Amino acid sequence: MVRNANIRSLMSQPNENIPRTVRRMASYLRPHWKAQLGAVVASLVTVGAELPAPLLLKALVDDVAIGGDLSLLPPLLIAIGALAIAGAVGGVAANYLFTSAGEQAANVLRRALMDQVLRLPLAYFRGHRTGDTVTHFTADSAAIAEAYENAYGNGLAAAISVLGIVIVVAIIDWRFGVLAAVLVPLYMLLPRLRQGHHVRAAQSVQSATGELGGLATELIAGMRDIRAFNRQAWSLERLRRLLLALRDARVYQGFIVGWTWVTTTIFWIVYAGIFLVLAEPIFGGEVTIGFALALAGYLSWLNREVTPLTMAYVDLLHAVGAARRLFGFLDTPAEDDAGDGTSLAVTRGDIEFRGVSAAYLADTPVLRDVSFHVPGGSTTAIVGPSGAGKSTVVNLLLRFLQPSAGEIRLDGQNTGSASATEVRRHVGVVFQDPVLFHGSIADNIGFGREGIGQREVARAADIAAATDFVKATRDGFDTQVGERALRLSGGQAQRIAIARAIAGDPRVLVLDEATSALDAESEHLVLQGLERAREGRTTIVVAHRLSTVHQADQVVVLDEGRVLDVGRHGELYERCDLYRDLCDRQMQPATEGRDA
Ligand SMILES: Nc1ncnc2c1ncn2[C@@H]1O[C@H](COP(=O)(O)OP(=O)(O)OP(=O)(O)O)[C@@H](O)[C@H]1O
Ligand SMILES: [Mg+2]
Repeated sequence: MVRNANIRSLMSQPNENIPRTVRRMASYLRPHWKAQLGAVVASLVTVGAELPAPLLLKALVDDVAIGGDLSLLPPLLIAIGALAIAGAVGGVAANYLFTSAGEQAANVLRRALMDQVLRLPLAYFRGHRTGDTVTHFTADSAAIAEAYENAYGNGLAAAISVLGIVIVVAIIDWRFGVLAAVLVPLYMLLPRLRQGHHVRAAQSVQSATGELGGLATELIAGMRDIRAFNRQAWSLERLRRLLLALRDARVYQGFIVGWTWVTTTIFWIVYAGIFLVLAEPIFGGEVTIGFALALAGYLSWLNREVTPLTMAYVDLLHAVGAARRLFGFLDTPAEDDAGDGTSLAVTRGDIEFRGVSAAYLADTPVLRDVSFHVPGGSTTAIVGPSGAGKSTVVNLLLRFLQPSAGEIRLDGQNTGSASATEVRRHVGVVFQDPVLFHGSIADNIGFGREGIGQREVARAADIAAATDFVKATRDGFDTQVGERALRLSGGQAQRIAIARAIAGDPRVLVLDEATSALDAESEHLVLQGLERAREGRTTIVVAHRLSTVHQADQVVVLDEGRVLDVGRHGELYERCDLYRDLCDRQMQPATEGRDA
């Protein structure tokens, strides 16, 4: 049965603390205790209204049908009708309240997930597939929401019914009461014995679902490249293998859930036993037929309620499997954004790197003792071979990464003590592959600034040399652009990105290979935009192309994480071999390999 390696490895895991996970899930329901309490009361009403039914049946049979007392008929029928209505009202109310509490709790959980997504270090997203993370919002949350409604809701209602039935049966005949009280835990024993399996089966189903999401997202995002390289069959093969794993996990889960139905079998055996014992008293006249009917009614009702109870329990265990994945995600250490609350007073935008070292992985330093100074309002270009650490400098400025030694100063203040949010407020950035969001062009330009006005948007677009092509689109600034700026050319998207970077009027502007992906003509237009955008701002440009570098007031040459030299283009060309190499290579034809 267990063929899948994924399942087998999960099976050998120690059984972690299930009650702790159940309590943690319940903690999200706690704020909605009023709805929960209301639902419990409504369930009590329903159970209270349904409980007397078999007894009323007994009276109908023994007193009216057999005893012949017809005067009892109208009050009995009225009672049955009234109780049925009360039961229905209670049932509807309980369902409504359980679902509403459950959905609210699940939404709090989903918000917590997004909150976590927004705070996790960016490195997390490089190490995990998008689709897998998305599955936390969909399949994992859905399993937990289901548990809120089914396990915590219907399970509670079923538990109340079971308790009520046991009590009423005990009142009718204490011996059967004891029997029922012993039977119920027996029903729960089976899933209880297998609870570790249930949880782990659910875990493997959820992670297979996560991998499916991961693969689908990856393939859809890479559709252009898949088509270009004719990799359709390869894509289907990858999917096929994953689907096999998912199927195995699901089938195994279904297999152990199936065992729960054994409880029904146990019930019917016990049921037959009871009537074997009762046969003599009934035919010997010791108990009435109505009594036997009422008892049968209670016992089969008990069976009907115990099944949802065990199922609620199984649902709960499945949710525990999903919750482990989800809480594991929520417990991933988030970005240390807080600082000590210092706010930065930035007027000139003077930047200084002082002996900065940095590493992505603890024992592989990427920058070593980097120092340079960018006077406020000037432009510095950072050049160096691929992998030299240029983007790392940008990541440090944007606080995507913290220095392991040294400090970064902004107008003389150490940015390390301010929060990342505060630092980013003062820095506008343009990446090589900017992501524009679903919305209008104006929304995208005003992206970084709350409540920006139309005139400011237009001004930013003007500076970024974007106005002409924006005006030429059908709806101007209201033109909708898709997730990945599908309706814009690379150069147009880049100019929108520049407008977005300066719309908040930051003192510092950072560009990492902002024009590298563009052809010469688009680059020329973007550079026009940039030139105006730089005015009155401190600008740091990372560029392969020298067109940007020529205009810089200063060039920092990085090599293997160290500053090799700092100076103007002319003087560096004279004295720095690496820099001269970099420049010369650009002048040569591409056949000699311009991209090292
Ligand atoms: N997220 C990361 N995790 C681990 N190492 C990284 C990460 N990003 C970059 N590095 C490493 O840090 C070093 C510097 O990378 P960086 O991106 O700063 O180079 P770069 O100068 O911008 O190169 P390029 O010109 O190719 O963009 C490289 O050796 C790279 O392998
Ligand atoms: Mg780079």
